[in-house]
Parts: sequence; C-alpha cells; structure tokens
Amino acid sequence: MSQKIESHLVENRVFKPSKEFSKAARISSMAQYKRLYKESIDKPATFWAREAKELVWQKPWKKVLDWKAPFAKWFVGAKVNVCENCVDRHLDGPRRNKAAIIWEGEPGEKRTLTYQQLHREVCRFANVLEARGVKAKERVLIYMPMVPEAAIAMLACARIGAVHNVVFGGFSAESIIDRLDDSESTTVITADGGYRRGKIVPLKASVDEALKKYKKVERVFVYQRTGEKTTMKRGRDLWWHEEVASASGKHTPKGFDSEHPLFILYTSGSTGKPKGILHTSGGYLVGTYVSSKYIFDMQDDDVYWCTADVGWITGHSYITYGPLANGITQVMYEGAPNYPDFGRLWDMVEEYGVTTFYTAPTAIRAFIKAGDKFPESRDLSSLRLLGSVGEPINPEAWMWYHDKIGGGRCPIVDTWWQTETGAIMISPLPGCTPCKPGTATLPFFGVDAAILDETGQECKANEGGKLVIRKPWPSMLRTIYGDKTRYKKTYWNDYPGMYTAGDGARRDKDGNFWIVGRLDDVLNVSGHRLGTAEVESALVSHKAVAEAAVVGKPHEIKGQAVVAFLTLKEGIASSDKMKVELRNHVGKVIGAIAKPDAIHITPALPKTRSGKIMRRLLKELVATGKVSGNVTTLEDYSVIAALQKELGK
Ligand code: PRX
Repeated sequence: MSQKIESHLVENRVFKPSKEFSKAARISSMAQYKRLYKESIDKPATFWAREAKELVWQKPWKKVLDWKAPFAKWFVGAKVNVCENCVDRHLDGPRRNKAAIIWEGEPGEKRTLTYQQLHREVCRFANVLEARGVKAKERVLIYMPMVPEAAIAMLACARIGAVHNVVFGGFSAESIIDRLDDSESTTVITADGGYRRGKIVPLKASVDEALKKYKKVERVFVYQRTGEKTTMKRGRDLWWHEEVASASGKHTPKGFDSEHPLFILYTSGSTGKPKGILHTSGGYLVGTYVSSKYIFDMQDDDVYWCTADVGWITGHSYITYGPLANGITQVMYEGAPNYPDFGRLWDMVEEYGVTTFYTAPTAIRAFIKAGDKFPESRDLSSLRLLGSVGEPINPEAWMWYHDKIGGGRCPIVDTWWQTETGAIMISPLPGCTPCKPGTATLPFFGVDAAILDETGQECKANEGGKLVIRKPWPSMLRTIYGDKTRYKKTYWNDYPGMYTAGDGARRDKDGNFWIVGRLDDVLNVSGHRLGTAEVESALVSHKAVAEAAVVGKPHEIKGQAVVAFLTLKEGIASSDKMKVELRNHVGKVIGAIAKPDAIHITPALPKTRSGKIMRRLLKELVATGKVSGNVTTLEDYSVIAALQKELGK
C-alpha cells in the first residue's frame, strides 16, 4: 500500500473512548461538553466563577473579568496564594499522606514526597527566601535540573509573591545573562549540576559565568545534587541544604492580588530577542487547575506523568501548578528518556503504575525508531490516558502511540496551546471527544477559537487560515515583561480585539482544528520554539561570519532541523573546522538545542532588490532542491545555482 493512501485512510479513522472510560470520566458525553462549552462562551463569568470556587481564595473577587482589550484582569479584587492552592489545600483530608511527587534521578535514586512533606519543604525554603531578603514582586531566576527542588523553588517563590523566571537547564550562560538582564533578577536558584545521559551538566558553572557579566544578583542558592566540587562565592552563594537546615517547616501563605505577577517565562518570537511572557496569579491558577482536571480527567487514584522539563511552559502548567492544584500523584524524572536505553520510561510506567502519560511527538518518533521491543517487553496495562503536546503529531506516530503504548484502549489528548496561552486551548476531552489521528480536535471551555482569512472572515471547512482566539481566557499572558508595545504588536495587531497565535490551521467539516504549524519565522525543533532570528544573531556574533540566514528542514525525529546559510567575512576561508566551531558557538550563545544540523557556507545569499534575504527560497531549496513560485524579485539568479551546488542538488 502506498504511503499516501495509507495516511489518507488513517486521517479518516475515528477513535471514540470506550464505554467504561466515558462512564467514569468527568465529562462523559458530547452533549455534556457542548452544554458546558456553550455556557463558558455565553456566560463566562458563571462558568469560571463556579470552577474557581473549588479553590481557596483569601478574599473573594468583585468581578470575574475586566477586559479592556488587549489587557485582561481576572477575578478582580480577589486575594489568592497560588502555592496554598497547590499544597496547603490538600492537607486537611486524606490527601495529606498521599504521594505528591514520586521522583527518579537518572542514575536511579528514588524519592517520594507526600503532600505533607512537600508542604514542609516548600515552607522551609519560603522561610529561607524571606530571611535572606527576597521580597514580593522581586524576580528570581531558577536554573535547575529536574529534581523536586525545582518545583519546590517555584512554589516557594509563589508563596512569598516573588516572580520566578525559570530558565531551561540546557540553555547557555549567555542565555542566562539575557534573561537576568531583561527581568532584572536579583536572586538565582540553581544546583551544582544535574544528570543527563550519564553525564553531569554543570549548572552552577554556567551561572558563575553569567554572573561575571551581570552584576545585580545579590544571592545564589545552590542545591547540592551531584556533590561535584563547586566554587561558592562568599557573601553571595548559599548552599540550599545549609539554609533549610534550621528553617521552620511552617509558613503562613499571604494572599496576593489576583493579578499579582506569578512568573515570567521567556520564549522565542520572530525577532532576535526572546519575549518575557508574563503570567499572573488567579487566572493562571484557575486555567491550569480546570484544564488539568478535565483534559487529563484527573481522578484521586491517578498516577500522572508529564515528561516535560520545568524549564518550559508545559512543566510550569502541567507539572508544577495544574496537577498539584488538583492534588494528584505525579511522577517526575530527571534524565534522558534513552538512559540507559529506550526502556527507561516504560520501566517507570510499570513500576509506579502510571495511569496518565503526557509527552511530545518528537519523543514518540524517537521511541518508534528505537523499536517496539522496548514497550512490548514491559507491562503498560496501568495506563488509561495518553497526551501529546508541542507540535502537530503525525498520524503514523499517533497510531503507534495508541497501539504500542496505549494498548489500543487509551484515548489520546492531542493538546494545542502555547507559552502565551498558559493552559491547553484545543484538545479532546478524553471521555467524550471522538479523536482523529493528527487533530487537536475541539476548543476547551472558555476558548473561542476560530480560523480567519486575510480579510478577517472565518474560513470555510478545510480552508487554511490564521488561528485566533476571539475572547480573553483566564490563563492568558498579561503582557510581554517590560514591553506593552511589543505585546500589542505581536499578538493583537492582525484583527481588532483578537489574539493571533502565529499558527496556521484549518477546521474540518466536523469542526476539528488541524494545526499546520507556525506562520512566522519560528521553528519547532523537538517541540521547542526557536526563532530563526535568534540563531542568526548568534551566528553573526561570531567574528568570521558576515551574514546568516536560518531556515527549518523537515526532520524525522525532531520535526524540524535547523539549517544555516552563511557568508564569511573577506579573507576568511570556509572549512569543516570552521563549521564545527560555528555550531559550538551557537551552542554557547543559546544552548545545544539551537545548534544547526547543517551549515552551508556560500559566496552569497539570495536577496531581493531591496536587500532582504529570501528565506522562502532557502527553505524550498533545502526541502526539495529546487525553487518554484515567484523569483522575479531575486536580485542575482546565479546565487541559486551556487546554492544548489553547495547543497549537492
Ligand atoms: O506551533 C504550535 C506548537 O507549539 C507552539 C507553542 O510553543 P510553546 O510556546 O513552546 O509551547 C509548547 C507547549 C505548549 C504553537 O504555536 N504546538 C504546541 N502544541 C501543539 C502544537 N502544534 C500542533 N499541535 C499541538 N498539539
């Protein structure tokens, strides 16, 4: 059977949840979904107030929403402590001694923290932060491995009203400097290192390098994870274990305004500088709580596992905040999924009896490539629900996930959302939505999603257009930190009063959303956003490089691979050694995820008469080896032949 026919057949397959699953689920029929969805759109205040009342508010709100586009305030006038809702709220009943976090380190250590233990650790660290002078609204940069202390640090910040700014442990010292500088952080929480693929990632060393250039940090808390030799600067650096040793395990959570800033998380956009996405307290808490509850159908006996890193939004919303607000038991893992081999995650599913497993398509593709023997030799029968996030999941990968991991019985929630949206926006509800491989299906409660054409008209079925959200939602970003103008320009400029996501999509005749991918100059590499402009500026910052253009190329595992085209400065010769040096340079400036898979050094880049680099041509060249479409604006045709030669096409 040809590939084309096969994928056509797959796309038309519909998977409905089993009767047993539906019966026990929180939302068990499409009629129930439709009724609640209608209410959430027609009467958002009624819907969200009812949900929010399940949480603890130190002072009630006066108004659910205050919307002066594009600025929203949710649960106006309320006082809330997000940490209290994720931890203290569970101490009064049987959840007190329930496991909150079951953790495994990459080398194999195991730790379990019950809600009571988590509370104690969070309180102790909150007391330490306060005793060392960290104040509400102060920005705290967190650069940690995947250890429970990463979540504890975030929760302790939330508890005292400090604003965390988590930086993914794979980012470089230079990336830390940019984020410290933009957020004007004064405190850093890090670890001596973490384990990844059998090696130690020296996190504190990167922090030290960053702090040579950024001088405003007053204190650095260092969690001892590896025990490797670490330099500690007197008067600035403090060992976590020494600090908490004498700290009290009690701490009263103060109520903060519902719009009090909770965190900043940097993400890539189409220009070089990462954007500091600002999320606030009440709305974000409600959004992550409610979406976790319904989309992962959270039940008290679930063992939930999201494989993301806390350095990304998925780790914020679906490790730290949403699941803990629901009082769930979750698994957390420090290391690489293929360490020591591709059976690691499945061993853990079996050992802990994981019921709900949430991962990314890039990981699924890597598992497929590694071979069926890994999942087949483990007992995965505890699983009841699977999730996917980060990029469109190709139908073949969906089918493999469904059959080999889900044993054909688990619904798959393909969840579309973004750093900016804070919570899942489009996704099946596992107890009712008919799933088709490759579509994130229908909007979640309160999400007024649509696909518009250039004129602002809604597209017809199967017509491609821009994905927009027409109404504010509780967990939406409030601004880009320190840059309201960029916030308005980036997200609210295409259609009046509507949020543009930057993704292209279409809806099929049943109303399902099929996300095609980014419309701007943003790549999706292994489910992570990378601005082409960011990688280009990193390349140009090398002394040998004159100009750079970066494009994406389809990649079997990563989704997209980074391909860079460069011209060198006068008198500098191209060599393989130079290419290696440039790759490493990008790794140093941004982090390993941004290293180009291929670097092509050419005498010239294709440009328009006005001097703009024609990335569209480069994209086409790397994908097909040819250029089609309109090339009349190209200044010098001979460039194409030279590029084809370089690419060996
Ligand atoms: O292009 C979409 C893609 O990832 C982008 C958001 O990236 P980020 O802010 O890093 O957040 C990733 C985790 C939420 C989106 O604009 N994306 C995310 N989930 C999906 C997706 N594309 C298709 N299907 C998804 N389920």
